[in-house]
Amino acid sequence: MKVFVTREILPAGLKLLKAHHDVDVWEDYAPPAYDVLLNKVKDCDGIVTMLSDKIDTGVIDAAKNLKVISQLAVGYDNIDVNYATSKKIYVTNTPDVLTESSADFSFALLMAIARRVVEADKYVRRGNWKVAWHPTMMLGGELYGATLGIVGAGRIGRAMARRAKGFNMNILYTSRSAKPEFEKECGAKRVELDELLRQSDYVSLHVPLTNETKGLINADKLALMKKTGYLISNARGPVIDETALYQALKGNKIAGAALDVFCKEPASSDNPLFSLDNIVVAPHISSAGTATREKMSVMVAENIIAALSGNKPKNRLNNF
Ligand code: NAP
Ligand code: GLV
Ligand code: GLV
Repeated sequence: MKVFVTREILPAGLKLLKAHHDVDVWEDYAPPAYDVLLNKVKDCDGIVTMLSDKIDTGVIDAAKNLKVISQLAVGYDNIDVNYATSKKIYVTNTPDVLTESSADFSFALLMAIARRVVEADKYVRRGNWKVAWHPTMMLGGELYGATLGIVGAGRIGRAMARRAKGFNMNILYTSRSAKPEFEKECGAKRVELDELLRQSDYVSLHVPLTNETKGLINADKLALMKKTGYLISNARGPVIDETALYQALKGNKIAGAALDVFCKEPASSDNPLFSLDNIVVAPHISSAGTATREKMSVMVAENIIAALSGNKPKNRLNNF
């Protein structure tokens, strides 16, 4: 059967896919334009998608033979899952295999903003290091004994908390349902979001982007945070109101932010956030561990192969 892969995935997954199906891979580094995508999916039975591909009703309608949309990511807010379900098309994602790698990056962001790692690097390279040592040079936040607030204690949120526990941090969390196991494992305490924002020294976002989480961290919520508090996110850009965050950082209402995700991606270099020193940014790379990406690529292939042989794919997000 015919499978369109919207970007070159890692070799292990591609090899597996090619052993079973007729595979067309989009080889440009940039995604296919929307009209190209519409044309490419016309006669496809399966597609492998990235989080930067908009899989809306138009794409789904254009793909008359489509049986499965296999996303190379755990988040799937770019796909109209309800519409796919109405057409009996499976939508699958890549959970679990990227959890540890993504939490590693959340923790890297936390440490980088707290201890000013990126700013320090620039300081040295740019020739600003004129005095060997000074007691007040580049003072930053502490981790030991500090409180980390996890917004969305799912797989990645909980993995982040486990790392923080190793640094002797106290853990607060919000989630739609209580997580007794997690509370036992990490000594985590479930509180309302407002309480979490008031009490945390570090707030780390791990919710998916949904109608409920869009704009969740707005000006009112940022105003609840400590003046010494840091905001970390590798969830999805629109979970934060970026303009409100800019104001909070600019006015030193919070100490800093570290972001892997933005409202518009790629973020343009004139994004006002990038003019600030109290922010660390990355280009949406939290799951970009080599072994992780290899596992993700195999997983998307396995989900396609299962669906196209008439089985229920393991990582399906819908049922019919
Ligand atoms: P997950 O296991 O599904 O965790 C999501 C958590 O968010 C769940 O615990 C869920 O709560 C909670 N949640 C959902 N809606 C909520 C709401 N309205 N209020 C409060 N909590 C809510 O997903 P995951 O594997 O940890 O991934 C989380 C997200 O990280 C993904 O959706 C993706 O957007 C992002 N991500 C980004 C990168 C990157 O490269 N930057 C990499 C991987 C993942 P309940 O458990 O109570 O239902
Ligand atoms: C990456 O952002 C993912 O959702 O896997
Ligand atoms: C710093 O380098 C120290 O020795 O405390």
